[in-house]
Amino acid sequence: MVRRAIKSNDKVRVGLIGSQFISSIHAESLQRCGHAEIVAVASPTPAHVTDFARRFDIPNAFTDYRNLLSMDDLDMVVVGAPNDLHCAIAVDAASAGKHVVMEKPFCLNLAEADQMIAACAHAKVKLMYAEELCFAPKYVRLKQLVDCGALGKPTLVKQSEKHGGPHAAHFWDVERSGGGVTMDMGCHAIAFFRWMLGSPKIKSVYAQMSTQVHGRKTKGDDNALIIVEFANGEIGLAEESWTKLGGMDDRAEVHGSKGVAYADLLHGNSIETFSATGYDYAVEKAGGTKGWTFTIYEEIWNYGFPQEMAHFVDCVRLDLQPLVTGEDGRAVLEVLFAAYESARTGQKTIMPFATNAAKPFDLWGK
Ligand SMILES: NC(=O)c1ccc[n+]([C@@H]2O[C@H](COP(=O)([O-])OP(=O)(O)OC[C@H]3O[C@@H](n4cnc5c(N)ncnc54)[C@H](O)[C@@H]3O)[C@@H](O)[C@H]2O)c1
Repeated sequence: MVRRAIKSNDKVRVGLIGSQFISSIHAESLQRCGHAEIVAVASPTPAHVTDFARRFDIPNAFTDYRNLLSMDDLDMVVVGAPNDLHCAIAVDAASAGKHVVMEKPFCLNLAEADQMIAACAHAKVKLMYAEELCFAPKYVRLKQLVDCGALGKPTLVKQSEKHGGPHAAHFWDVERSGGGVTMDMGCHAIAFFRWMLGSPKIKSVYAQMSTQVHGRKTKGDDNALIIVEFANGEIGLAEESWTKLGGMDDRAEVHGSKGVAYADLLHGNSIETFSATGYDYAVEKAGGTKGWTFTIYEEIWNYGFPQEMAHFVDCVRLDLQPLVTGEDGRAVLEVLFAAYESARTGQKTIMPFATNAAKPFDLWGK
């Protein structure tokens, strides 16, 4: 294992694993960060990886991520591969001495999560959980309102993501993804609640799940309601959907004893547009651009992706504690398991919740 000593004025040398949707966002975000340099990308399809390397001017492209990990002068990897590969990639990266930024959801099960955390601790590399909502400027401001007491004692926090369904086959295949919309987007809401409320102890989790529209395509849930009950009485409520047409929806509310705040991440920051002809791009998963659409601008900035990557790069460069860690990824995963358990039993799942299930979906749909 080789790890380069990084000085605070060095550029952090980054390798990307994956070359499609989220990795493009990672690349664009890192290219905005003055302290980072993308030195390599790895992804199994030769045409994709070479095209990606050309598009983002990355000097090294590999079809096997192990070759990327064997580069001596690489400091950190950012993983944008399907969920079932997260654990193996993180463990391999740790044993190669590379700091790891892992996309959500953290991995498929709690044993994998423990393995990833232990491997990174053993190798003395940072394990950073890529939950960009903790860096989204509007949500960061919302948290400041909560923290300064503007809303009084929080009573109910809501966060929801909805769109018409994912763009790639691995999301629909529960063997690879671990679950449906709860796994894919509920993980954002759970991380959001913990972050917004300062990670209080969780007392119980209740969830209602269904497959309403995409039953031919997936065994996974395409709609879900999740209630997280915190030991201090605060409540988190998430609505998640893979059946909402017309573009991505991402919004949050905080209700408190002295006030309330509503934060709509995309609609709220967009241009209300009517176009008879249609145009190039409105927002993620818009489906079309004719008629009424909401046109987002600086989409990745609104989501907090460049801010998230800049923070993780600083964590490596300056040896800082990451805002979101492997332990946070594991805590979110535990709640996801509890949610699928509740969806099966129809009862609240009492926390902490231990399970040997191979993936959250197994508790609900096997
Ligand atoms: N934070 C977010 O909001 C967000 C958004 C989208 C996706 N994601 C997460 O990012 C991950 C990837 O999702 P995506 O939307 O980019 O999927 P995608 O299908 O668009 O891209 C997946 C990439 O992984 C690559 N890949 C597959 N097998 C690989 C292997 N063995 N080694 C290296 N690369 C491999 C594919 O070639 C492809 O480039 C998922 O875990 C997903 O949940 C997060």
